[in-house]
Amino acid sequence: MPTLFDPIHLGELQLPNRIVMAPLTRDRATPGVDAPNALNAEYYAQRATAGLLIAEATQISPEGKGYAWTPGIYSDAQVEGWTQVTQAVHGAGGRIVLQLWHVGRISHTSLQPGGAAPVSASAIPAKAKVFIENPPSFADTSTPRALELGEIPRLIEDYRRAATNAKAAGFDGIELHAANGYLLQQFLCDGTNRRTDEYGGPVANRARLILQVLDALTSVWEPGRVGIRLSPWTKFGDISDSDPAATFGYVIGELNRYGLAYLHMIEGDTGAGRASDSEIAAMRALFIGPYIANNGYDGAMASERVASGAADAVAFGRPFIANPDLVLRLRTGAPLNPGDPSTYYGGGAHGYTDYPFLAQAA
Ligand code: PHB
Repeated sequence: MPTLFDPIHLGELQLPNRIVMAPLTRDRATPGVDAPNALNAEYYAQRATAGLLIAEATQISPEGKGYAWTPGIYSDAQVEGWTQVTQAVHGAGGRIVLQLWHVGRISHTSLQPGGAAPVSASAIPAKAKVFIENPPSFADTSTPRALELGEIPRLIEDYRRAATNAKAAGFDGIELHAANGYLLQQFLCDGTNRRTDEYGGPVANRARLILQVLDALTSVWEPGRVGIRLSPWTKFGDISDSDPAATFGYVIGELNRYGLAYLHMIEGDTGAGRASDSEIAAMRALFIGPYIANNGYDGAMASERVASGAADAVAFGRPFIANPDLVLRLRTGAPLNPGDPSTYYGGGAHGYTDYPFLAQAA
């Protein structure tokens, strides 16, 4: 039976173990330019013993931003910043992919170019908060405007440019963020999509944008270096669908055409409860490629899921914030450092790069 510490191939990605670092928003890019910096490079390099690092959600365009101090991948300064990160991770022996993000309606006019309304599938506001820069505070999301049909090719080009930039920055691959109630899930789910054009109505229309974006991404990267993250059961970002089994079943069936590196599944409500084992198993069974499980895993549960074949690898979020050497700790059964939620979002090195490694803790 496979263990968490056995190597695995996810498409073209070769992992020395099955412990993946989940993408984690930390709000510590350089203000003003939203570019990664030396501190971010140190943070990722500290965690390079993970089988795979999935870098934090990264906006593909200024319009794709929804929180203060999250990084982008659309400017030269951002490509330079991410290059520092990938070089540090590779220098430490690690592998890192970039998660490509557009928040859609989960944003605020003060974060948008020209103070404009955020964009979405339809003009339906989310009952959700975002963190804005001026003044630094939580704020209700702004009411979005519906993207016009004629704007969608430009949106797809924004994804393509981001994919090209990620390649230039030296990543090992990319992950398409189609989860957690952000733009692509706003198109996919019927609670947020009231469109009457070819991107609305039946699921084949609502899924069209995700698949066209994947077409663009796989024109830049070989499909074995492209993953995707889905969250069929999440309520995050006020997202809802009347029939998640049918909606996500359709999408996963279409994903099988691409030969992607992996499907990364949030197996419940993000950061909260799990869907039922039978719902998760039914969804997983639809995908013919490698599967990364995520949402509230500990070492024991992850070992069990990998041993049973229910997952090929497991992504850990919060445990990786507080334990740069999580792989060693899980391997040796050492205790985990507790995380400090007050330093999860924003700030500097404290609560970011100063969590102790095992030898230091002992
Ligand atoms: C967040 O910034 O809180 C956030 C970002 C991306 C996610 C989930 C949460 O997928």
